[in-house]
Amino acid sequence: MSSAFFSALSHLECSRTGARHDADEVHTTSDAGAPLLARYDLERVRARVTREEIAGRAPDLWRYRELLPVRDPRHVVSLGEGMTPLLPLERYGASVGVPGLRMKDEGLVPTGSFKARGAAVGVSRAAELGVRGIAMPTNGNAGAAWSVYAARAGMRSLIAMPVDAPEITRTECVVAGAELYLVDGLIGDAGKLVAAAVAERRGYQEVSTLKEPYRLEGKKTMGYEIVEQLGWRAPDVILYPTGGGVGIIGIHKALLEMRELGWLTGELPRLVAVQAEGCAPIVEAFERGDASSVPFPDARTVAFGITVPKALGDFLVLNAVRETGGTAVAVSDEELLRAQGALARAEGAFICPEGAACFAAVDRLRASGWLRGDENVVVLNTGSGLKYPGTVPVDVQTLPAHGRIPG
Ligand SMILES: Cc1ncc(COP(=O)(O)O)c(C=O)c1O
Repeated sequence: MSSAFFSALSHLECSRTGARHDADEVHTTSDAGAPLLARYDLERVRARVTREEIAGRAPDLWRYRELLPVRDPRHVVSLGEGMTPLLPLERYGASVGVPGLRMKDEGLVPTGSFKARGAAVGVSRAAELGVRGIAMPTNGNAGAAWSVYAARAGMRSLIAMPVDAPEITRTECVVAGAELYLVDGLIGDAGKLVAAAVAERRGYQEVSTLKEPYRLEGKKTMGYEIVEQLGWRAPDVILYPTGGGVGIIGIHKALLEMRELGWLTGELPRLVAVQAEGCAPIVEAFERGDASSVPFPDARTVAFGITVPKALGDFLVLNAVRETGGTAVAVSDEELLRAQGALARAEGAFICPEGAACFAAVDRLRASGWLRGDENVVVLNTGSGLKYPGTVPVDVQTLPAHGRIPG
């Protein structure tokens, strides 16, 4: 990378109290127990960088490097993540009455899910701060992503995931040399085990969702990319499958930063938090008008990545949704699996069940009139369907070698 590389990171800020924390020390949450948000010297960015200059950079998320926390380019750990396609979905969009529908396809990043963005930035910054090992609970995809980036950084990784997490994500952790444990429980149970283990180990940093500040920075680049890919304009609506909420909080943060930089003008897009009916704590809190959620009992959905009964950043998700005039919607597993098949048949895209939940939500919101037919709508498909082969029943005939295909 060029010597002009720099990060305008200035400090960390408590998302509840606004208290300042030193960005060049390893932190978990703030003194108030809330997520820390990275803050940048946006004046300096405005003076040094233009949107045109960004357009000439390599097609990965490091093109937004001034707005990322890694100070020295030698610490960047990259597998080529970012700048995923923003695909128009003309046929599918027309069929659901939203011709301006597009999909940001995160199935194409390393490890097949958007978790690579958070891992690339989180591991790079951890390496820069001298961390030697990362430890995390995961619903699968994040563990896979952090394991491979940790391997590339020469760092150790300790991962715990529910026994029901997508099986391929176990393999991804193991092949990258992670120390992996399966937990007979949900992500919160895995989190307690990891926290206890980290307390007894030296050199490991706990990087659970929103308990370290930089995963969010990696994920916010989805927001930068969407706006850049639309010619520095925002769509009307963005739908996001919400578990821990890092992606939607990150997209909101990116939009606010771009507005302050003068890179984005006009109304912000309405942000929609999509959950599954089997685990919808944020949707319930939104409907009740509450500022935070309560743990969702007996959480269960085929969209495993969004099985998060209680998110640390729930208040930030609810704030992002309300501040942008958005909404929160829960769909059934049946609806999302139907959307997964319909999209593949109409557009050739095999998406993950979490992304499919957003397509099911488009249907619901269009039917209720919340979404208008003339709006520009972006759905985040957060991962590849290849990671969840079990979601598609394959009922086909096996022929004898010298058999005959029916005419
Ligand atoms: C494919 C997929 N989509 C969405 C999510 C939810 O992510 P977030 O924490 O950003 O809400 C996950 C988390 O595991 C996931 O694996």
